[in-house]
Amino acid sequence: MNSDHSTLTIERYDASEDKSLKAFSAADELILQHCTELNSKNKFLGIYHDRFGYLSCHLNQLNPTSVFTNKSQLSAIELNCKANHLNFSNSSDPISSLENKIGLALLKVPKSLALFELYLQHISQNSTTEVHVIVGYMTRHFSPKMIEIAEKYFEKVEQSRAVKKARTAILKGKKALVEANLIDSLEYNNQTYQQYWGVFSAKHIDYATQFFLTHIKAGHADKHILDLASGNGIIANELLKKLPNSIVHLMDDSFLAVESAKLNVKGENVHHHFENNFSTFNDNTFDLIVTNPPFHFEYEINIQIPIQLFRECYRCLKPGGNLQIVANNHLNYSSQLKEIFPTIEIIAQNDNFVVLKCEKKPA
Ligand SMILES: C[S@@+](CC[C@H](N)C(=O)[O-])C[C@H]1O[C@@H](n2cnc3c(N)ncnc32)[C@H](O)[C@@H]1O
Repeated sequence: MNSDHSTLTIERYDASEDKSLKAFSAADELILQHCTELNSKNKFLGIYHDRFGYLSCHLNQLNPTSVFTNKSQLSAIELNCKANHLNFSNSSDPISSLENKIGLALLKVPKSLALFELYLQHISQNSTTEVHVIVGYMTRHFSPKMIEIAEKYFEKVEQSRAVKKARTAILKGKKALVEANLIDSLEYNNQTYQQYWGVFSAKHIDYATQFFLTHIKAGHADKHILDLASGNGIIANELLKKLPNSIVHLMDDSFLAVESAKLNVKGENVHHHFENNFSTFNDNTFDLIVTNPPFHFEYEINIQIPIQLFRECYRCLKPGGNLQIVANNHLNYSSQLKEIFPTIEIIAQNDNFVVLKCEKKPA
């Protein structure tokens, strides 16, 4: 274990310009402190939902496996390890089996409690019977439901005293696993969409998405289409029903979203990408890009990230191609989009949402 924690520098590696946003919280520090107190040396260590790599870097000498859901998370952990001259080799998504049984799991509680439960399922399936789990959270994010879920998997759930407005809970006494299939079903347009726990909008198809689907302008000239931030793939799939000969790409930062989209959108002309940027796409590739873009990242709102994605859209659209966006009215993307696209048109608006069409300069 790195004994001098102050020597490590952990960066966010996202598009955020807000210097007040930190790469770790008091909850991460508390998890680390409790992990150091428990003698964890001979236990196989699993680290869950380590957003930018604070725990993976500080515990690097224990050779942990970092269980991630987001590509951005994985990249940040890799970059922070590299910047601190640490090797990072063990990682896993949260639905694949691990080679070794976990003896100690550290879990930063995600905002989505469905994802929290999916992680506990994974821990339960991939751990020794004596496993201990240290979960950490900021007290303002606490919900009694968190304890209720933890008690489904463990006999004992002991919360610590608050330190710097953070707490941990130690879970002990693993219960027999009640296996769940980890997938929710949603109905839309006479079709059942499936999605893993923790994927965006679990109870119903998002209202902004529904509004978007009734107003997207797409035609047979749109051969190459990208559904950016595709979630369970509903936008791409509904477009494919209208334009079955188009070639459709779907990209999302969330591994579970991409795996969900694979269940819903299939075909030789369908390509799924687990990615959080456009590095794999060439300039001038798409006729049409559609998106209900992300702006919530756990408990933060950050429109710098969608704006950066819109810039990349411009590069990857063909001349004369267009980007269509659905957004909450209050986000007011137009002023920033005007700096990227020469033409922006409102194609639909109601009290809550707006659909924008942004055209790249024709050749
Ligand atoms: C508002 S949801 C839209 C999901 C889906 N298109 C729908 O309408 O139901 C935004 C999605 O963006 C994804 N996301 C967040 N950051 C991303 C990034 N940098 N690149 C691609 N997808 C991202 C999230 O995982 C989430 O699935």
